[in-house]
Order: sequence, then structure tokens, then C-alpha cells
Amino acid sequence: MKIIKVKNYDEMSKIAANIIASKIILDDHCTLGLATGSTPIGTYQNLIKKYQNGDISFKNIKTINLDEYVGLNEEDTRSYRYFMNDNLFNHVDIDKSNTHVPKGMAQDMEQESERYNRLIEDLSPVSVQLLGIGENGHIGFNEPNDYFPLKTHVEKLTDSTIKANQRFFEKGEHTPEFAITMGIENIMSAQTVIILASGIKKAQAMRDSLQGKVMPNVPASILQLHKDLIVIGDEDAFSMMDI
Ligand code: GLP
Repeated sequence: MKIIKVKNYDEMSKIAANIIASKIILDDHCTLGLATGSTPIGTYQNLIKKYQNGDISFKNIKTINLDEYVGLNEEDTRSYRYFMNDNLFNHVDIDKSNTHVPKGMAQDMEQESERYNRLIEDLSPVSVQLLGIGENGHIGFNEPNDYFPLKTHVEKLTDSTIKANQRFFEKGEHTPEFAITMGIENIMSAQTVIILASGIKKAQAMRDSLQGKVMPNVPASILQLHKDLIVIGDEDAFSMMDI
């Protein structure tokens, strides 16, 4: 595990973008595993700048995202497909047909999960999987559990996740209770995994995940077993760890 401790969010975002850009430079046909949430937005902004400067091109890049809310369509501004278009894809030269997000409005979510697993295999190897972390240690939408779900599946969101993500929805508006997410084995199969964390709210999850026991009750703890894990966090996110 490589730990990179930085001062703040901006520094974290720059370093993450540099690492992803280097993967693109080494293989401009590679597959990137992407994430949503507020944490990776700065990384995407830095990647857009690199594209605008002519340093990288997404022309032949393929992407696969971690997860999507069940019941939100692609035009819904709260959907993760919308987020990805808005925060990255609309600003670079990527071919949208090479970008993949699970379909939250699929008629049969089991079939959609199987389709997504096959897609992950077809697009493998995922060169680098970008991750944020939930306050309860979740990755993708893999919530604390008594086992590690391996493949893409539908997950019932915990109250704490629904509460944490409520900020993206109007007050009083119904927040989705289910999501479709890559499983732990899907995530672990990436060649490199980058996990980002910024802010004091992530400090406990970071300590439990990186220095605690590997257990499904802290889903991100499995990352300790990944052969090429890069952790980039700011001082607040590492404030409960002795590093
Ligand atoms: C959601 C996403 C995760 C993300 C987490 C943290 O639950 N499914 O992929 O890591 O939120 O989000 P944020 O970065 O906004 O704190």
C-alpha cells in the first residue's frame, strides 16, 4: 500500500489526476474505473485541464463506473450517469459509447447486474479504479455487511448513506433506497486502485479501513489486500492515523 498524505483537497485532486493521466499516457486504449460523489470532482477537473492543454486524449479510452441509483433515469440530474457526463465526459474527447454506468432504470435488475459483470470482463483489465469512501467505510455502494458481495448486485442503502447523500436531493425529496453496484471482486480486479479521502468526516472510516481488521463490516478494509493500492488523503482524513 502506498500512502500519499497531502495538505488539502486540491493537492489530492492534482496527484490523483497525475496518476490517472500517466496510465492514459502509457496506454491510450486503457479502461478506467470511475467513481462519483463529491470527492473525485477535483480529479476530473484536473483531467479536463490536461485534456485542454493537449497532454492527454480520451479518444480511445473506455470507462466503467462503480454504481448507480436504482430508479433514476440517465437524464435525472442526480443520477450518476448525469454526474459523469456533467463532470467529465462532456468536456473531453471521449466517445460516449465507450463509457459505461449501470442502468438504474433497467426492467430486470438481476439481468442488468449480469450484463454489467460481463461488461467488466470484456473491458478488463481495468487499468486503474478510482474510489471514494463512505463515512461508514463503503466503497461503490457496498455497504457494511457480514460477507463481501463479489459481483455486481443491488444493494439496500443504509440510513447513514441515505443521510450522507441527502445533500444531493431537495429537502424532503425521496432519496433512492437502492443502488446497483459493482461487487468487491469486481473492484479488486483492477490493476491499480486509488482511494481518495478528504475531510474530517472520513477520518474514522480511513483508520478502520487501512489499519483495522479486514472485515466485511468495513468494506474498504478489503483494499489492504490489493497488490497496488494508492491511498491519497488530506491531513483531516488521516487525522486519526499515526502516519
Ligand atoms: C456514494 C458513492 C461512493 C462515494 C461515496 C462518498 O455513496 N456511491 O462511490 O465514495 O458516496 O461520497 P463523497 O465523495 O461525496 O463523500
